[in-house]
Amino acid sequence: MDENIQVNDFINFSKALIDREGITDKSLSEVAEALSKLSNIEDLFRFGQHRGRGANAAESYVLYEDSEPSGPVLQLARFDAPTAIHNHGSWGALCGYIREQYYSQWVLQSDDHSKVVQTIDTIIKPGDFVYWPDVPNDIHKQIPVDDDAWVIIYMGRNAFDTPRIVYD
Ligand SMILES: [Fe+2]
Repeated sequence: MDENIQVNDFINFSKALIDREGITDKSLSEVAEALSKLSNIEDLFRFGQHRGRGANAAESYVLYEDSEPSGPVLQLARFDAPTAIHNHGSWGALCGYIREQYYSQWVLQSDDHSKVVQTIDTIIKPGDFVYWPDVPNDIHKQIPVDDDAWVIIYMGRNAFDTPRIVYD
């Protein structure tokens, strides 16, 4: 199978699933699991557009960017330092690609963002996946285990230009 078709298949599958079932734990876990299948493709980079530095990423490649501003984005991103605890203004899924990353996630306990509770604290190895729910519970932090780690990130909405909330 042409590997580029697999990227497109993932996008078509995920968009149709979310359209049909909405943003639920079940649909997001299926999206994340499908994302994990992409991580088996060697050199995914060649299907991407080099984007360089992001708000948190040291480097990134965009594998898919929807023509709708509110549509999804799929990217490969390299992290070489701990991120702040941050959000994205969108639900999303993340899968390990090269090397390992600590991953933590929180949900809000109060509406004013003053109190959060940790729900995930794990190590993401290549092929491992997580997802985060939609705003306001899209709060997480990533730390490379060694010098750096590459992960695949699928965001439900294009949040490149959305200001992020950073938590202490
Ligand atoms: Fe993030």
